Amino acid sequence: MIYAKKLIGKTHFDRIFYSNSGAEANEGAIKLAVKYTGKSEIISTVDSFHGRTVMTLAATGHEHYHEPFKCILPKGFINVPYNDIDAIKEAVTENTAAIIVEPVQGEGGVNIPDKDYLKQIEELCHEKDIVFIVDEVQTGFGRCGTLFAHELFDVKPDIMTMAKGIGGGVPMGGILATEKIASAFVPGDHGTTFGGGPLVCAAANAVLDVFDEDNILDNVNEVGEYFVSELKKLDKDIIAEVRGVGLMVGIELTKPGGEYVDKLREAGFLINCTAGNVLRLVPPLTITKQDIDEFVKALDESL
Ligand SMILES: Cc1ncc(COP(=O)(O)O)c(C=O)c1O
Repeated sequence: MIYAKKLIGKTHFDRIFYSNSGAEANEGAIKLAVKYTGKSEIISTVDSFHGRTVMTLAATGHEHYHEPFKCILPKGFINVPYNDIDAIKEAVTENTAAIIVEPVQGEGGVNIPDKDYLKQIEELCHEKDIVFIVDEVQTGFGRCGTLFAHELFDVKPDIMTMAKGIGGGVPMGGILATEKIASAFVPGDHGTTFGGGPLVCAAANAVLDVFDEDNILDNVNEVGEYFVSELKKLDKDIIAEVRGVGLMVGIELTKPGGEYVDKLREAGFLINCTAGNVLRLVPPLTITKQDIDEFVKALDESL
């Protein structure tokens, strides 16, 4: 089956646009929301990450990333605290085009919102005719135990952006949208030379086949739960909290985490540190419990 039909068939969306990266997908999603509503304000969240192009940088809620480029960032982006529906309500104006959120914040430190946060955003968007965009560049394609993480929160966003896992390593991204919203774009409004080429679509097609044939989501849920429970057994004062959903796991430390990233790299494990003190663990979705045991042992030693 052609890729677009196969992917759309697994979601509530109607149309797809292929990009080459996550940032490009978010650029297109924001353009679409602006075209659909004829409005110009976008609400995003503090500690979010949406990309490094000029517009997605403005949506990204990190002062640190903004600082050197402040002079060229477009107006109209409002960052509000994450997981705070009242803050969003206060920020909404007559001119709000869209609200963009990550279902679970990645770069912000693996922040998992309250169960009803996304539902409340969805309701607000319906009430005020605002476009609800989920950025699933990091959380999509099984990372959180469902094909897309918004499914965990029982919402149907108007637009979803994707990248990272979509092509299993080939550079690809995409925007999914409902017919109602997507129809605001007419030919020429948006496009890209390489998006949706045969090579990347073949790779993405194979990725979806592997999901079905190898029960990848079952592995993510089973091993993810094991991972978090093993990490929680580590009795270390330096660990403030372990949190995770599927195979997106964060270990919040009581001090900066950079030195542990280096130590673990020397021991053969690639991890990173986000938000200064959160070790972020986003292993391959095919990881085994035995791999986890080896990692936890190395982590224990390095801490
Ligand atoms: C949630 C989220 N959105 C967007 C991006 C940007 O994606 P890309 O690096 O493919 O442009 C990232 C990258 O880390 C991300 O985590």
